[in-house]
Amino acid sequence: MQRAMLVVLSALLAGLGAAAQGSAAAYDGTAKVFRLDGGNVTYAFGVNPRGELQQLYWGGRLGATDRIPAAVPKREAASFDSSYTTTPQEYAGWGAGLFVEPAIKVTFTDGNRDLVLHYDRHESATDGFNVVLKDIKRNVFVTLHYSIDPVSGILSRSATIENKEEQPITIEQAAAAAWSVPAGHYTLDYLTGRWGGEWTLTQEKLSPGERVIESRRGSTGHQANPWFAIEAGDAPDENAGEVWFGALAWSGSWRITVEQDQLDAIRVTGGFNPFDFGYVLKPGEKLETPVFYGGYSAHGLGGASRLLHHYEVAHVLPRRVGDGEDAAPKPRPVIYNSWEATEMNVSEEGQIALAEKAAALGVDRFVMDDGWFGQRKTDHAGLGDWYVNSQKFPHGLKPLIDKVHALHMDFGLWVEPEMVNPDSDLYRKHPDWVLNFPGRPRSESRNQLVLNLARQDVRDYVLGFLDKLLNENDIAFLKWDYNRNWSEPGWDQLPPNEQKEVYVAFTRNLYWVLSELKKRHPKVELESCSGGGGRVDLGILQYADEVWPSDNTDPFDRLTQQDGFTYAYTPQVMMAWVTDSPHWGNKRSTSLQYRMLSSMQGSLGIGANITKFTDQEMATAKRLIAAYHQVQKTIVQGDLYRLISPRNGSEFSATQTVNKDKSQSVVFAFIHSTQEGRGFPILKLKGLDPKAEYTLTPIEGAVLKGSPTTASGAWWMNHGLVTGDDFRGDFQAAAFRLDRK
Ligand code: GLA
Repeated sequence: MQRAMLVVLSALLAGLGAAAQGSAAAYDGTAKVFRLDGGNVTYAFGVNPRGELQQLYWGGRLGATDRIPAAVPKREAASFDSSYTTTPQEYAGWGAGLFVEPAIKVTFTDGNRDLVLHYDRHESATDGFNVVLKDIKRNVFVTLHYSIDPVSGILSRSATIENKEEQPITIEQAAAAAWSVPAGHYTLDYLTGRWGGEWTLTQEKLSPGERVIESRRGSTGHQANPWFAIEAGDAPDENAGEVWFGALAWSGSWRITVEQDQLDAIRVTGGFNPFDFGYVLKPGEKLETPVFYGGYSAHGLGGASRLLHHYEVAHVLPRRVGDGEDAAPKPRPVIYNSWEATEMNVSEEGQIALAEKAAALGVDRFVMDDGWFGQRKTDHAGLGDWYVNSQKFPHGLKPLIDKVHALHMDFGLWVEPEMVNPDSDLYRKHPDWVLNFPGRPRSESRNQLVLNLARQDVRDYVLGFLDKLLNENDIAFLKWDYNRNWSEPGWDQLPPNEQKEVYVAFTRNLYWVLSELKKRHPKVELESCSGGGGRVDLGILQYADEVWPSDNTDPFDRLTQQDGFTYAYTPQVMMAWVTDSPHWGNKRSTSLQYRMLSSMQGSLGIGANITKFTDQEMATAKRLIAAYHQVQKTIVQGDLYRLISPRNGSEFSATQTVNKDKSQSVVFAFIHSTQEGRGFPILKLKGLDPKAEYTLTPIEGAVLKGSPTTASGAWWMNHGLVTGDDFRGDFQAAAFRLDRK
């Protein structure tokens, strides 16, 4: 019967032609093999004779009629390495002598800590399966959820752990999924950084042992991001070669381990960070892990990121009301943000002056940043008191919001809901609401403490004030900030052995507040900011329409940050402001054109003190915002090709995006400093239709000499785009568009 199903499915896929798209999930009951096909990817796992769920294949799409042989456990490598440890299990319990990273580790009340999960049953789910595993003796069940995207072949995996014993169990480690890649030579890519310096692509040869990528901070963190890629070989290529990649959808403490075992096989395990973890599952209770997405590309990191970008836009990001389930989120409005211009020194008059200038530039949305509430004059006071400061705004926010609307922009506001300054009415009233261990010091960062959002009263307070703010004011957008990491993460409402649940409950409540807010105010859009890029992940991106990648707005630094960011995240969510020169951070001076073009690689914003702009600067910014509006969709939702990476001190960098129907392409080119008279390299473009004719139009900064203006896609891809001899100097930038004739 199941075999028959497979045959029908195969016939169906064969009908779709060689480059079969669409997805399929098939179970071969004879071989006990589960197979998922989507895009150009096949993923397969089976039940081996011992009953373990074993990974069988993850790679390029196999023929529809190919049969995947039944799972055979790997051999015992030596008496030191049992077959249980060498077999690539889909979700291994710590037990039976497992020496590699377990997916799950538990302690039972009687002291037993052995958990061995075997296949119990399965059911079909949309584009996938739910496979139930059970401990060989006890009533602990783990349901593994699998689905595959028909277009990108990206898999979504997570687990639900259920205790059907009569006693509680403590979960000490719980992954969302474990991914396996066969033994070989690989390069590992991951993203690291710090405040003001996020998104460094770190690359290293995979070698024996375990590489830990994690946050123990209670939130995603600037220092590492929950994304990885594993490239085949020692000399990876942006455009070619096999890549396995993944991203974890969790905004709390997380961990991804990448392990090369004693037989050189690779396992990637990711989920809740087991550090300081302990989740008590009472009889009948369940724990759901975050989702761990995984994908495969045969086209290098470039191919991998294009798949991920597609998936994020199509399936992760929130949709606007009326867009419908299948409609892609719209490109972001061009914003103005007041932070760098005024810092906390905001006033009705000052904001209106900025808004008038912003409107004259063609900005779509005006955002007032920190400083408008409570007794907020500096970062020493006010967080927690979300009423409008009556000295700064004597008539409330309405006059400013009305003015912004009259200028044909919508209005956005900065909030930092999970935080409190000890100098605030809220803290004076509820000192017990913060994360703390009673009787121990409460470590401050930026003079603030973290509210324990895991508490229901705190959760309700946060939702309550935000709801009120949005009910009372016509606000289209909230910049949701989060400016420190955790310390002393105590939750003394719970019995001591349950207090570590704060790691899960806090993040779940954050998601709950965000989703409730979206339900009550479906038109309000959100930005996730955490002192820049400290909370960017596929969990928060289910609710946040955009993110703030870094507080560092230096346009040259941003090139490398944006390059790093786009390995994991789509330019659609990558906000980029044009700020003043010289830059406050690096004291580097750059032209307005250079700053604009650097920011135009993502979702454009302006953060400069535009009341000081000269007429000429106003004209330049206005012209480029108009040019950006025309090609924005191609830039933020097209296929991105990193033609020359700015990493590793490159003199040059360039990116190109091509829209989905290949009718338009946009190219950005940047020079750090021309050396020894070397001109800008010829840019061999990608992703165009070779047979179509494209007209090249400079957007800014280019003097085209010796290049045709109209030529075939084949010309632009094979001969390449010659930027012209005059394109040289320090901190130079150029942008072009190509339109199909
Ligand atoms: C954080 C943000 C900035 C700004 C300030 C306000 O640092 O990243 O953009 O909003 O807070 O205090």
